[in-house]
Amino acid sequence: MANILAIYGSPRRKGNTARLTAQAVAGAREAGAQVEEVVLRDLKMSPCLEIYGCQKNGRCAIKDDFQDLYDKLKSCQGLILSSPIFFYTVSAHTKIMMDRCQSLWVKKYWIDKRPFGELDPAKKALFICLGATKGKKLFDGALLTVKYFLDTLDMGLWKSLLYRGLDYEGDIDKEPSYLAEARQAGADLARELDNFQP
Ligand SMILES: Cc1cc2nc3c(=O)[nH]c(=O)nc-3n(C[C@H](O)[C@H](O)[C@H](O)COP(=O)(O)O)c2cc1C
Repeated sequence: MANILAIYGSPRRKGNTARLTAQAVAGAREAGAQVEEVVLRDLKMSPCLEIYGCQKNGRCAIKDDFQDLYDKLKSCQGLILSSPIFFYTVSAHTKIMMDRCQSLWVKKYWIDKRPFGELDPAKKALFICLGATKGKKLFDGALLTVKYFLDTLDMGLWKSLLYRGLDYEGDIDKEPSYLAEARQAGADLARELDNFQP
């Protein structure tokens, strides 16, 4: 059974991103995955302070809710990561989590001295992202950030669901096809991960 971590990156509990993420989680569970959900806005998490306490053993030295999340991020086989677009990248909640994963980056590249870009083919991520406007470059910043964040987790970006034109809470209700697509993607991710189960 695949083990998936679902990270809700929007500050809105019932906003567009959360609704889509919940659909992906439901789909993954229907397909047999075990899914743990983490809502970032509920965590007490400092930004990275760049003190590099993590150089000792790859563990962040700041004692807050990231410590638990660190273990979950390291051990999950699949990730459902979601964020709205805020100023052309991911939300602050999401970025704070990513920056705290510099401790994993330090472990991977400085302590364990692994080659750059080495991924685990059994680990895969689904990224769900949306914004209010409709520009061609709306997701460019977030996608680059997510790619290099996932690299730190040894994960490839398996699929991105990117939606434009969603702004007010509830806008997602006008787009049932997006919700259905998210549910299907969650199920597909679970099945894809099952291919790598021993
Ligand atoms: C701080 C902030 C920055 C934003 N920046 C952008 C932006 O750069 N481009 C855009 O299209 N929408 C931007 N938005 C709009 C949100 O992406 C949009 O309202 C989205 O639907 C919120 O998703 P949620 O309901 O899941 O929180 C911004 C919203 C906020 C609050």
